[in-house]
Amino acid sequence: MILNGPNLKRLDLRESHIYGDFDYATLEGYIRDIAKAEGFEVDIRQSDDEAVLIGWLHEAADKKIPLVINPAAFTHYSYAIRDAVVMLKAPVIEVHLSNPLSREEFRHTSVISGVVNGTISGFGMNSYRLAVIAMRELIGNLEK
Ligand code: DQA
Repeated sequence: MILNGPNLKRLDLRESHIYGDFDYATLEGYIRDIAKAEGFEVDIRQSDDEAVLIGWLHEAADKKIPLVINPAAFTHYSYAIRDAVVMLKAPVIEVHLSNPLSREEFRHTSVISGVVNGTISGFGMNSYRLAVIAMRELIGNLEK
């Protein structure tokens, strides 16, 4: 499962010098292709709503689904999302298109990073590709 948080559906209307010059549909198509190439069946979802994201995290926990999450602005302050991430049973990777550490100070804190297997930030769309590759490795190691 790949979850994207608030405002990511409007990527084409956001700061293109920070996020890249593409729309959300392009990002989803890219992730779908990459995931397929890595042999994953992928379920990509986006919501602006914290409660909806938490519901999906509960679903991933109950079904033991490996997860890639870009919590967007919730990264920086949502203890509710953090608590839901803690309950996941399979590996989880945090991704960001931009590098939050090179941006405003409020973005320097991630309340999510401490409860995931790893974080990949700053590579634009490629962050998702790197996350999918890392997930393949994580799952491969678990299967050994
Ligand atoms: C983001 C970084 C966050 O700080 C921001 O609020 C976003 C997107 C990223 O992918 O770079 O919405 O998660």
